[in-house]
Amino acid sequence: MRVQICKGKSCSGSWAAYLEKRLKSDREKFSYDAEVDDCLCQWNCMNGPNMVLDGVMFERMNPSLASQAFANKIKEIRQSINSKKWK
Ligand code: FES
Repeated sequence: MRVQICKGKSCSGSWAAYLEKRLKSDREKFSYDAEVDDCLCQWNCMNGPNMVLDGVMFERMNPSLASQAFANKIKEIRQSINSKKWK
């Protein structure tokens, strides 16, 4: 899984730094080896702060919403892996 946090001028002016800090903390909490890094402006500044999770844009993020989206994605991946084990 790859999470990119927009570090364009508009997004960085809001929650971007806190999103990154929270997601890196969550990565440790869930023991999940996700790549958490930043990206350039996604041309969606009006709806920022934005993050891209495995190619899907999440708009109007705050640390709590970002954490929730991250946890849901991990849950989805783990369920997918578990369902394959039992087939
Ligand atoms: S600065 Fe984040 S979308 Fe433009």
